[in-house]
Amino acid sequence: MFALFFALPAFFTFFSPSTITTDLLRPALFARTAYCPTSTIVNWTCGAPCNALPGIQVFTAGGNQGTIPFFYVASDPQSQSIVVVHEGTDPADLLSVLNDIEFSQVNLNSTLFPNAGNDTLVHDGFQDTQGRTADTILSTVQSALASTGYKNVLVTGHSLGAAVASLDAVMLKMALPNDVAINSVVFGLPRVGNAQWASLVDSLFPSFAHVTNQKDPVPTVPPQFLSFVHPAGEAHITTHCSDSTELLDSDIQNHLGPYFDGVSFGSSASGCS
Ligand SMILES: *[C@@H]1O[C@H](CO)[C@@H](O)[C@H](O)[C@H]1NC(C)=O
Ligand SMILES: *[C@@H]1O[C@H](CO)[C@@H](O)[C@H](O)[C@H]1NC(C)=O
Ligand SMILES: *[C@@H]1O[C@H](CO)[C@@H](O)[C@H](O)[C@H]1NC(C)=O
Repeated sequence: MFALFFALPAFFTFFSPSTITTDLLRPALFARTAYCPTSTIVNWTCGAPCNALPGIQVFTAGGNQGTIPFFYVASDPQSQSIVVVHEGTDPADLLSVLNDIEFSQVNLNSTLFPNAGNDTLVHDGFQDTQGRTADTILSTVQSALASTGYKNVLVTGHSLGAAVASLDAVMLKMALPNDVAINSVVFGLPRVGNAQWASLVDSLFPSFAHVTNQKDPVPTVPPQFLSFVHPAGEAHITTHCSDSTELLDSDIQNHLGPYFDGVSFGSSASGCS
C-alpha cells in the first residue's frame, strides 16, 4: 500500500491510478531499462525490463558507466514518441559528490542552452555529464523525429540520470520546433540548479514531474542553503502524509525503490538479463 501525492506549491493532490499508469509508470519502465547492459539494449533483449515495453526500436545507445552513464534514444510506437533515457549512478557515490562543498554552480553552456538567462546556474558536474552526450542526443532525436514522423519526445531517467534528463529536456525544448511536444518525467531527482533554473524548467514544462520515493535522501541534495532549488511537479510516494524529508532519517534504499507496480532501479534491482 502506498499513497502518491503531487506536491504543488500550496497543496497535495492524489494521482489517480490511471494517471499513474499513463503519466508515470511508462517513463519509470523506460528509466529502469537504462540500468541494463547497452549490448542488450541495442536490440531490446534485456529481459523483463525490455519485455515490459514491446515494439521499441533503438536508434543509438552508448555510455561507459563511468564518465558517461548508459543512455539511449528509441522510438515507442505505443505513445508515438521518441524516448531519451539516461542511467543513474550508485546512490552512495552520488550523495558523497553532492555533499561535497567543493563543487560550483556554473552558467549553462550557451551553445546548448541559447535562450537561458546568464543568471541561470547549474551544478557543474551535472552539466559536464550532460554535455558529454548532448550532441549525440540532439542529433539522434532530430533524425528519429524525421524518420518516424512522431511529434512527441519523452525524456526520463533515475538519480544522476534524472538530473541529466532534466538538462536534456531543456536543451531539446530550445532546439526543436514548437510543434514537437517534449515531456519529462524523472525519478529520484537531486537538485540540479538555482532558483532561476527551477523557474526555467517550470516555465518550459508545466507538466514536468519528478517522483520522490518515501525518504530517499537524493532529492534533498545539494541543499537549499547552497541555493539549489527544485522545479515544481514533485510527486511524492509516501506511506504517510508528510511532505518533509530530513536527511537524518532518510533511507537510501528508498532511492532504488520499489516505486510503484514493483518498479525498482539500479543494476541489480532492475531485473536485467
Ligand atoms: C543484437 O545485436 C548484436 C549486434 O548489434 C548482434 O551481434 C546480436 O546477435 C543481436 N542479438 C539478438 C538476440 O538479436
Ligand atoms: C558547449 O557545448 C558545445 C556543444 O556540445 C561544446 O562543443 C562546447 O565545448 C561546450 N562548451 C563548454 C564550455 O563546455
Ligand atoms: C548578464 O546579462 C545582462 C543583460 O544582458 C548583462 O548586463 C550582464 O553583464 C550579464 N552578466 C554576466 C555575468 O555576464
